[in-house]
Amino acid sequence: TALTQERIPDDAFAAMRRDNLARWPTGAAVDLAEAVAFHQALPEHKRLAPVMRRAVAEGRCLTQPRGGVGTLEGQKALMRTLDRDGMADIVPLTTDSYTRNERFAEAEAGVAESERQGRSMLNGFPIVNYGVAAARELVAEVEKPTILLTGTSMPKLTGEIGFAGGFSGYLGSGIAYTVSYIKELSIEDGIRNYQYLDRLAALYQEHGVELHRRQPGFLTGTNIPPCIAIMTCVLDALLAAAQGVRNYGLELGQCLHVVQDAAAIAACRELVQEYLGRLGYTDVFTPVTSLHWMGAWPYDDAQSAALVSWGGALAALGGAASVTTKSVHEAYGIPTAEANAEGLRMTRMAIYLARSLRLDGLPEYEREKAQIHAEVRPIIDRVLELGDGDVARGTVRAFEAGVLDIPWSPNRHVRGRLLPARDDAGYLRILDPGDMPFPAEVREYHAERLRDRAAHEGVDFDSPELAIASVYEISEELRRLLP
Ligand code: 5AD
Repeated sequence: TALTQERIPDDAFAAMRRDNLARWPTGAAVDLAEAVAFHQALPEHKRLAPVMRRAVAEGRCLTQPRGGVGTLEGQKALMRTLDRDGMADIVPLTTDSYTRNERFAEAEAGVAESERQGRSMLNGFPIVNYGVAAARELVAEVEKPTILLTGTSMPKLTGEIGFAGGFSGYLGSGIAYTVSYIKELSIEDGIRNYQYLDRLAALYQEHGVELHRRQPGFLTGTNIPPCIAIMTCVLDALLAAAQGVRNYGLELGQCLHVVQDAAAIAACRELVQEYLGRLGYTDVFTPVTSLHWMGAWPYDDAQSAALVSWGGALAALGGAASVTTKSVHEAYGIPTAEANAEGLRMTRMAIYLARSLRLDGLPEYEREKAQIHAEVRPIIDRVLELGDGDVARGTVRAFEAGVLDIPWSPNRHVRGRLLPARDDAGYLRILDPGDMPFPAEVREYHAERLRDRAAHEGVDFDSPELAIASVYEISEELRRLLP
């Protein structure tokens, strides 16, 4: 059938679920009625949907790390450490790369090898191989809500096992992950895969269990200007709402500029609600999560500690509902549980210190927020037009036409012509908009600020030099920043 945003009909979805669950033996243990009963028996403080709602109601910024290792015992220990030593408000399970690519036989070999060597030989936890009962042992290990972090455009089995296993949050979306994490998969197929997951979350909702779905707006983890991230948040949220999702988080990677990050968080919340409302969805809860710097990190614990702390402050004073943390090990790879827990405590302290700060009313903040609105609206309106009102079709056509573009996308179906760069003041701007149809005033606003930097540094404004220099800026040797 042709791609559409329409809610997958009940009987079609039942057939899709049967086929999907038959793809790996652990699928047989998924029983919806029994899984619903398991979620209903969880205390409220272990269910992410109400925990996110409460954080927003109380104006708190929750902390959440990432984390996954290759064995059940290892994963239990990791989740305990993040909960007890890190005081994480939300405890994660990151899946390994084989699981993300649905190469479950290889994941199985990775588990065996991890057990033989007594250390994790996988870069995450292979939840599909372990199955529902093991997932529930993990949920039982902590007194916090748990979320699956799966970095994949193929979430269908992971989602089934994870939700049935008692995980109440799932990070991933059809547009954002497909344009950022995979080369060959079409945007259409990525959207279809997440329509399944969103429809599954809605199925639990129909049975009285509200789950938290979440969109990863950080995209390629480079210098993503807020407007680009927010456009994907709006479109992914509209697609999820069409499947019946009512608790949908939005993530934004930090730009590291305090005004720009605070403006982005507010603008994201406002624009997503504006478009949900315009399409008739008036009851979708959309909290915003801020992410510690997603670009390249310094190989220096001291510099990294500053990024961790600063990131806590940025999230708190931007009014984010939660922050996803990193550690001083970031440049080197996956952190130890202890470093991960330290990153959480550093962040928590910074959130506490920044708790009463807000930028509302500050002219520069208000201007930046209005600017983001002026950047996002014309593009989203064009996408909706291209789809004749259908968000799924409009999105596919918009990427084909370059109306939507993502910087440094690995996906063949994305032009990747748009180039971002950092301006003199530290804001992320658009150096080259590619084929995106921004209004002339928007293009000029960005160009003007970057021309200033090009002039100061004596580089050619019409070359990609500023864009490239901006990629390495945060990770480079501190000494090079000396006057
Ligand atoms: N454990 C902890 N962090 C992880 N990340 C990826 N896999 C894991 C894991 N298994 C983190 C990276 C980076 C982010 C994208 O995810 O370190 O910070």
